[in-house]
Amino acid sequence: MSNIVDFSDVPRHLAFIMDGNGRWARERGLARAVGHRRGARAARNVVEAALKYGIPHITLFAFSTENFNRPASEVSFLMRLCTRSVKKYAKFFMENGIKFLMIGDMDRLPCELQLAINQLCDATSSFTKLTLAVAINYGARAEIANAVKKIVRKRIPESDISWETVADHLYTRELPDPDMVIRTSGEKRLSNFLLMQVAYAELYFVDKYWPDVDEETFVEVLREYAKRNRRMGKL
Ligand code: FPP
Repeated sequence: MSNIVDFSDVPRHLAFIMDGNGRWARERGLARAVGHRRGARAARNVVEAALKYGIPHITLFAFSTENFNRPASEVSFLMRLCTRSVKKYAKFFMENGIKFLMIGDMDRLPCELQLAINQLCDATSSFTKLTLAVAINYGARAEIANAVKKIVRKRIPESDISWETVADHLYTRELPDPDMVIRTSGEKRLSNFLLMQVAYAELYFVDKYWPDVDEETFVEVLREYAKRNRRMGKL
């Protein structure tokens, strides 16, 4: 397939629900962990494609709050994989001007992962070429409840509260709203991902499993986005 994309209409922010690592592995008679490792590689493919095609913001949903209900062995494997990925790609982020953001509740994460995230956020905070936000222990409803608590704690008067006030207290305050949400594996749900931020986003459901996502998939996403006619409530 040709990789020509209509650059007159590229999205500013693509948000990916990385789904299907387990099924990818099962269909090949492999352990789920292998699927997750291949999933981390697919995440890297997406970041490289975003750099290549000049997409300035990417969000990846790596671990939902509900994922803590998985067997302890899988939770600890995923935490170690996230820690390893954050540490392993630090150099790549620095060399390519990628700003790293964490979206979610850090408190329940292992100390080593918290430390690695904080170090990478600090080291890359001034970069502007691409912002990569990774959602770990993220849930949209908890995010909104958390924003309300912060607003109440600051005693912001009721008359000063608008959507912008709420948005300023979400984990995503530094990001524009996603233009498109992409979910792999054929599931057609948002699963408590960025619910308020995707109010006007295009939704795109891809049948392939996350580990199979590559540059070609990314180009398909850009093409699909360019085809959509976004009216945002206007005529
Ligand atoms: C969904 O597949 C995938 C996950 C829950 C984990 C994704 C996390 C990574 C790939 C780690 C990447 C880390 C960084 C920092 C980018 P699933 O297990 O729900 O698959 P299934 O629905 O087929 O079982």
